[in-house]
This record gives sequence, C-alpha cells and structure tokens, in this order.
Amino acid sequence: MTTDLAVPAPAHDHLDVPAAQLRSAELEEAIRKDPGRFRVLTGDRPTGRLHLGHYFGTLHNRVRLQDMGVEVFVLIADYQVLTDRDVAERLTEYVEDLLLDYLAIGVDPERSTIFAHSAVPALNQLLLPFLSLVSTAELGRNPTVKDEIAHSSQASVSGLMFTYPVHQAADILFCKANLVPVGQDQLPHLEIARTIARRFDNRYGDGGAPVFPEPEALLSVAPLLLGTDGTKMSKSRRNAIALSASADETAKLIRGAKTDAERRITYDPVARPEVSSLVLLAALCLDRDPHEVAEEIGDRGAAALKQVVTEAVNDRLAPIRARRTEYDRDRGFVRKVLREGNRRANAIADDTLHEVRAAMKSLY
Ligand code: TRP
Repeated sequence: MTTDLAVPAPAHDHLDVPAAQLRSAELEEAIRKDPGRFRVLTGDRPTGRLHLGHYFGTLHNRVRLQDMGVEVFVLIADYQVLTDRDVAERLTEYVEDLLLDYLAIGVDPERSTIFAHSAVPALNQLLLPFLSLVSTAELGRNPTVKDEIAHSSQASVSGLMFTYPVHQAADILFCKANLVPVGQDQLPHLEIARTIARRFDNRYGDGGAPVFPEPEALLSVAPLLLGTDGTKMSKSRRNAIALSASADETAKLIRGAKTDAERRITYDPVARPEVSSLVLLAALCLDRDPHEVAEEIGDRGAAALKQVVTEAVNDRLAPIRARRTEYDRDRGFVRKVLREGNRRANAIADDTLHEVRAAMKSLY
C-alpha cells in the first residue's frame, strides 16, 4: 500500500535550529525588499492578560512586521484552551482582554486581521482531511505536545490536546500564510504544517500549483526574561508584569523582585540570573545595551536598579496603557474589531475549503 503517510516527515528530535536561524535572516532580508510577498499568521491562546514576556518575545515583532507592510493575521486560539477548565469558564473575558492588549500595542485592525478560530467553521473543517494525513505515531512523537502533556494538570490527554498540532496546521494553512513567527519551541508544530501541506499536494495535487504553500518559520530571538521571583515569567506563577498593570502595581512588583547579595550591578545572565533579568528588562524598555545599563548603575545596588527598571517599564508602557484604557471604554468597538476580523477570516476560509473539496473531488 502506498499512502501519503509514506512521505517522510522530518525527524522532530533533530530539528535544525541553526539552519532555521540562517533561513530567518534570509527571510528578514526578503521582507525588507518586498513585504507584500508575505502573509503572516500568529496567535495566542486566550489565557488572560498579556505580560512583558509576551511583549518582548512576540507581540512587539508582530507590530514590527505589520508596520513593515506585511499582511498579518492574528488568531485567538479559543478552541485550544478548552482542555483547561478554569480558562473555559472565563473565555469571553479572556478573549476581550487579548483584543484589548493587541489594540493597545498597536495591532491595527485596518491593516491586520484579528479573529477567533471557533468563529471560522471552514477553518475547522480542514482538520478532517488534515487528520487523515498524519499518523498517531507522528503526533505522539511531537515534542511540544509531549511537553504540554507533561506539564498539564489534567489526569488524561484529550483527543483535542493530542491533535492540536494538526489544528494549528489548519490555523496556518487556511489563509495560506507563508510566514509564521515562532519561538524555537514551536518549530515542531510548524514542521507538521509543512508536512501536511506537502502530503495534501501529493495525494490530491493535479501537478499544478499546490493548494497550500509550505509555511516557513521566522525564528524570533526571544530574550530570556524571568519573572520577579527568578523563575519563568508566567501569569499562573504571579510573577509577571501585565501590560495592563498600573504604574503603582508595576513598582510594587519590581520592588519585591528577587535579587542577590552582591552590591555591584553587572549583566551576567549565567552567574546572576535574577539581577541580569532586571537589567535586561530595563535595557529592552530603553532600547539600550544591558551591559551599559548595568555599568551606569554600578555599585548603587539593587534598590537603584529597581528604580531604573520601574521607570523604564512604566515609561515604555505608558502609551500602551493609555490606549488600552481608551479602548476599554469602547467595548462596542472592540467587539466590532473581532466581528470584522472573523468576517474576513471566514471569507478566506470558505474559498480555501472550496479549493480543498475541489481537489478532493468532493464538490457535489
Ligand atoms: N499554540 C500557540 C501557543 O501555544 C498558539 C497558536 C495556535 C498558534 N495556532 C497557532 C501560533 C498558529 C502560531 C500559529 O501559543
């Protein structure tokens, strides 16, 4: 029996990160030359308000790409959080929080499309033919899923969790995005999307242009920002500074941040992770070199460092927070942005599904 599943999938355990970095540099160059060639899809799970780790890790990059002239689709992955009961109960609130954060950081609904995947039926229908193109063994090997499962508080793995890389492939391929800005941890997911695009063409292609282009990863070098307790910044650990926090809340969080006993401030992420993360945070907010920032504080100690960080964060976030407050007063507009984004996404998904059904000879 020859099946499309026989088309080799990349060995996920040997993902070539340096190659992806090299390719990303080439892509950056290509974007600068001709941004109109690219369509980006990225997204987040609605699990609450976004924080500074998200901002410097990915959010900032989306706005940068949008402002360079790339067409950007931002997905609110509301189906993907259904496995988490606590989130599911507050889904509407979390989705609106995400919308407010996006608008506040400068995602422009005139140029970019913000949508929720549960509102786009044709996108979700792609899941069925796509599921036929991957084996359960391949899904079981996916390191990101393994990791999610390992960290999940659920007693068992749901089918939704197990198949979520395939869902993610539908998220990307429905709009034929050719560029997906991701961190290293998402590379295996992108490989599955590429594999599905290829296998779909092998099984149903007529030798002409493939229905789905193979999307490429644009690796972002996410700076390692720690939470205020020195562990990974995460909302659930209460160690994150939310974009929407007030200036006073921010000052309080930073005042309580973990440092060390050495008076002289230096930037040395390996030997002094907590102090260095604070220095890095100030440097990112100020668009400056962390070594210089540390040097300037010198032996004025942790209290001075915290002062500098608090001011840098609050200055950087002030315009974002002001915009967020404005949009917060106009929830009608915010909901309209999502409805309009959903409408655009549906029009594209309907066309793609039509093409898919034509390729599958199932247009009756
Ligand atoms: N899985 C991503 C996360 O954990 C969210 C996401 C869903 C996504 N679909 C996507 C990201 C498609 C990029 C492309 O945050």
